[in-house]
Amino acid sequence: MPISRVGVVGCGLMGSGIAEVAALSGLDVVVSEAGPDAVRAGRGRVLASLDRGLRRGKLSEQARDEALARLTFTHDLGDMSDRQIVIEAVAENRELKTEIMKTLDKTVADPEAILATNTSSIPVIDLAIATGRPDRVLGVHFFNPVPVQRLVELIPALTTGKDTLDRAREFVRERLGKETVRSPDRAGFVVNALLVPYLLAAVRMLESGVADAEDIDRGMELGCAHPMGPLRLLDLIGLDTAQAIAESMYEEYKEPTYAPPALLRRMVGAGWRGRKSGRGFYQYET
Ligand code: CAA
Repeated sequence: MPISRVGVVGCGLMGSGIAEVAALSGLDVVVSEAGPDAVRAGRGRVLASLDRGLRRGKLSEQARDEALARLTFTHDLGDMSDRQIVIEAVAENRELKTEIMKTLDKTVADPEAILATNTSSIPVIDLAIATGRPDRVLGVHFFNPVPVQRLVELIPALTTGKDTLDRAREFVRERLGKETVRSPDRAGFVVNALLVPYLLAAVRMLESGVADAEDIDRGMELGCAHPMGPLRLLDLIGLDTAQAIAESMYEEYKEPTYAPPALLRRMVGAGWRGRKSGRGFYQYET
């Protein structure tokens, strides 16, 4: 039976994008957030993105309304009980993700259902063994902005069954229309293991006064045809998220190249979390 009932836990930057893509793909989607205010904000995020598609002529009003009708927003994880796959996409916090996996394990009735995590850097095995079905747990790592980026990394843990990996691959490719690469369960997987040291190097370059933010970004945009420079990209990813990823990678490899630079830590400390907070390396309208 192909997967048609999807759950998404967390409706922030990543969760809202995953929910939107799943609903636009014709799937029935339940999205949960921590409480009524967070639900309202999450729904607003999905709506804003669908409306942007409408404005840019990519979506018809009918397609937007149909996608919205396929989305149910809740603050009760109990509403995930009939899902065939649940993707958790909450903040990059080990304790929080572990708690959610434990709750999903108790809540999701179908023993064959897949419990997936969108973690960027926490070992998938740690989340898998928090459940009573470690063979049904794997990482499915999306990229930001989810409606635009074509890739999803699939990360089987040591315990993940082949059948779970095959079903997840089919779901991502056939139902969501994304491409996949298989990544090892190592901090950073494939993409962030390459990307994060580069982004951190840009912060160090700024910190040491070699060049200013505009020049660093213009250098990579115009010199290497990157769609956005490293500091602008950090603002898009979220500086708190980038710091959390770098910390997990540093914990795993103990290599200085992964250590979050002091400037990044201070900016996060100041509440400058990038585009989503209105201020990062640049200022944004919120
Ligand atoms: N939702 C839907 N569509 C969006 C969108 C969003 N949030 N943001 C942009 N788009 C679409 C636009 O509609 C537009 O499509 P059309 O040209 O077909 O109309 C296209 O993307 C380009 O958008 P814009 O013209 O508004 O802006 P842009 O050309 O500057 O592109 C960008 C914006 C898509 C973000 C582009 O700069 C880009 O791809 N940047 C790199 C992003 C990247 O590297 N992401 C990976 C981050 S790493 C990660 O996510 C993993 C992790 O664990 C940290």
